[in-house]
Amino acid sequence: MKLLMAANWKMYKNQESARATLVELATRIAPLPQDREVAVFAPFTLLPACAAAVQGSPIRLGGQNCYPESEGAFTGEISPGMLQDAGCTLVLTGHSERRAILGESDEFVGQKTAFALQLGLDVVLCIGETLAQREAGKLEEVLARQLAAGLADVPASVPPQRISIAYEPVWAIGTGKVAGPVEIVAAHTAVRHMLHNNFKENASQVRIVYGGSVKPDNAKEIIALDNVNGVLVGGASLQAESFSRIALA
Ligand code: PGA
Repeated sequence: MKLLMAANWKMYKNQESARATLVELATRIAPLPQDREVAVFAPFTLLPACAAAVQGSPIRLGGQNCYPESEGAFTGEISPGMLQDAGCTLVLTGHSERRAILGESDEFVGQKTAFALQLGLDVVLCIGETLAQREAGKLEEVLARQLAAGLADVPASVPPQRISIAYEPVWAIGTGKVAGPVEIVAAHTAVRHMLHNNFKENASQVRIVYGGSVKPDNAKEIIALDNVNGVLVGGASLQAESFSRIALA
């Protein structure tokens, strides 16, 4: 299984800075070690420019969200097919900012996940607990709920390699507070066990990546941990220099 080293650009950048960042990133990560894959989740409007910029490089392009229908009267939404048309092979679902700020339910995240996979996009499904949930001893309960709903409608025929789970403790996102090795291993190991419900003996083929204040100076230590199969990086992914150091960590 290759490590997934992924950038989440959130609502940052314009066409020129996106293009420049990707061109520089492609140069800095070449040649990409065989054991890893690099992906960038860019804002919708930047996707065509990004697709042109990553051509001929190993960088995969992803959308940050999608709507679970092919087309129709869904003002403001983007379908998985539109993402593919713009050059994407991946999509993020269930990012905590969408759950908390846009009010997305566990079930809606599950609909998007299943539909995007059916249409051919690989999915990175994000799950994670808030500080209050963690302090109330609800870590495993929250992860199990988000994971079960997120994968509920995924057909058994979908190869497990097409799905990655991003464990992102909400209290570690954009805060500079990275979860410690013990906390990361405990959460990832719990997720690995939970994945047996859906994938049985293939559960080990689903990547579980960590997200939350990953930086060039902690990435190597994080990807060396048990059951950590990559990282999802926000702030430190915006500059090619810092993200390339993470991608090659
Ligand atoms: P961060 O964001 O690296 O800035 O903490 C991670 C994420 O939200 O995916």
